[in-house]
Amino acid sequence: MFGAPVKFVLVVAACWSSWAAICYSQTDEEKRPEYWNDQAWRDIQDVLNLQPKTGVAKNLVLFLGDGMGVSTVTAGRILKGQLAGRTGEEELLEMDKLPYSALVKTYNVDRQTGDSAATATAYLSGVKANYETLGVDGTVTYDDCAASLTGKVKSVLRHAHDAGKSTGIVVTSRITHATPAATYAYAANRAWEHDGKVPTEAQSLGCTDIALQLVEDNPYINVILGGGRAYFTNTNQTDPEYPDQKGFRTDGRDLIQEWTDGKAGSAAQYVWRKAEFDQVDPAETDYLLGLFEPSHMQYSLDTENDTAGEPTIAAMTTKALQILTKNPKGFFLLVEGSKIDLGHHDSKAAHALHDVIAFDDAIAVATGMLDLDETLITVTADHSHMFGFGGYAPRGTPILGLVPDDGENIVLDNMRFTNILYGNGPGFRQEGRQNLTGVNTADKDYIQQSAVPMKWESHGGEDVSVFADGPMAHLFRGLHEQVYVAHVMKYAACLGEYAEKCQTSRTASAADKHSWSGFTLVSTLLLIKSIIN
Ligand SMILES: *[C@@H]1O[C@H](CO)[C@@H](O)[C@H](O)[C@H]1NC(C)=O
Ligand SMILES: *[C@@H]1O[C@H](CO)[C@@H](O)[C@H](O)[C@H]1NC(C)=O
Ligand SMILES: *[C@@H]1O[C@H](CO)[C@@H](O)[C@H](O)[C@H]1NC(C)=O
Ligand SMILES: [Zn+2]
Repeated sequence: MFGAPVKFVLVVAACWSSWAAICYSQTDEEKRPEYWNDQAWRDIQDVLNLQPKTGVAKNLVLFLGDGMGVSTVTAGRILKGQLAGRTGEEELLEMDKLPYSALVKTYNVDRQTGDSAATATAYLSGVKANYETLGVDGTVTYDDCAASLTGKVKSVLRHAHDAGKSTGIVVTSRITHATPAATYAYAANRAWEHDGKVPTEAQSLGCTDIALQLVEDNPYINVILGGGRAYFTNTNQTDPEYPDQKGFRTDGRDLIQEWTDGKAGSAAQYVWRKAEFDQVDPAETDYLLGLFEPSHMQYSLDTENDTAGEPTIAAMTTKALQILTKNPKGFFLLVEGSKIDLGHHDSKAAHALHDVIAFDDAIAVATGMLDLDETLITVTADHSHMFGFGGYAPRGTPILGLVPDDGENIVLDNMRFTNILYGNGPGFRQEGRQNLTGVNTADKDYIQQSAVPMKWESHGGEDVSVFADGPMAHLFRGLHEQVYVAHVMKYAACLGEYAEKCQTSRTASAADKHSWSGFTLVSTLLLIKSIIN
């Protein structure tokens, strides 16, 4: 269970004690101006050689790091490098290697800092929404069931299905949580995850819970992998992994059984533990439902400790792609590193950052398995967090450690502080800051300090990054509204309102090229004429 953090501490200790051997070699290289000049020239050539891929995307894969703001990507990158025994700052995540990037603005219609439901509606359906609503437009305010019945918006997943593509969702949260729910459900309140959470008035108006919507209204989804068993089973059903736990549904329904019954005659399988998941043969499976926990799946650092065993997000992505790539018309897949966000809310930065690395491993699976001439891979986040690191730590300082006391900071309470701090959260102490000398701040359950006491640390309101490769990935440049992500995916794959539009505009841009060459020809002739004259 403590395998990974212990390894982390040892690696970092090695980096510190043999600074000259491991860490110094990197910084020594960097003292040569040629090191930077050569690297920059290689980068310039790479960018010069980039050829925009202008074909139609057969496949769309959206990687969503929940709460993975820019500072989280940077810190995750440093941790990845340090786990491999390097200083870390110079490291590249898989997402960092994608050639196109942009920034997107994450505010909601009614909030400056958004939540995962409203932001998911933006990047999945292309329309901004109100805080804590999902799959509905800005006419629907929180809890307003009646308005949600007429304010529905359609996600890229539904558009992909309508175009005959296969579809899949891979997450580490409950499959009914805000991000995955926004691919298939409509809800004026993201908390309506099982029937017991939907108020009676809303039920009488016709609003149903998110788990029910998944099973009843979206039977076509080929791959559904994540947590959330208790939301599909009733209060009389005992959980197979935790015999002391029951399902949550009060309507007596067993939606897992209903899903299985609905797939009679199809190559369908339900699994709830790693051993069963590992045995699923993708060649023989067209529909796969995997629910690995009653609620969220484990943090990647806790997975090994799990009673029944859980597949990693990379393993789930592999299996999902093996199933989805069987469709000659292509597919849409959402992969969410869901618990980056939950690690931050708990102010347990070790969990958040290790989950960034696990999520990044899933991106490596996709870039390794898929042809990026026909697949648009988009990596982004829904929103940021009140998470930051700084304090002039020397190069190679453990990202989960303390900033060395080398006189660079005038710390007024004379106590050490961690590299990573949260603006608000559970790490505030009324009695004043804890003296951290001798505290293992790299422990996976260490809670970083914060300035404002809050039960849970909050989201951050600044822009998040988009990284992309594949057809139309070059449309990701500059700053956009978050809805742009959905529109680029639809445009790239010629879905929805872009089914016709993307074809004509691509023809138009080809025509532009012709008129441009015409223009060049005329100016060349004029130039020759002026020389002759
Ligand atoms: C649970 O089982 C009892 C006894 O069979 C039954 O009366 C009750 O309606 C069941 N509750 C649900 C939610 O299915
Ligand atoms: C991991 O397992 C140990 C016992 O093997 C248990 O005490 C601990 O609570 C577990 N931790 C988690 C996060 O499940
Ligand atoms: C913090 O704890 C260390 C070790 O116990 C001690 O040497 C140091 O004086 C303490 N710092 C303050 C400001 O109390
Ligand atoms: Zn959150």
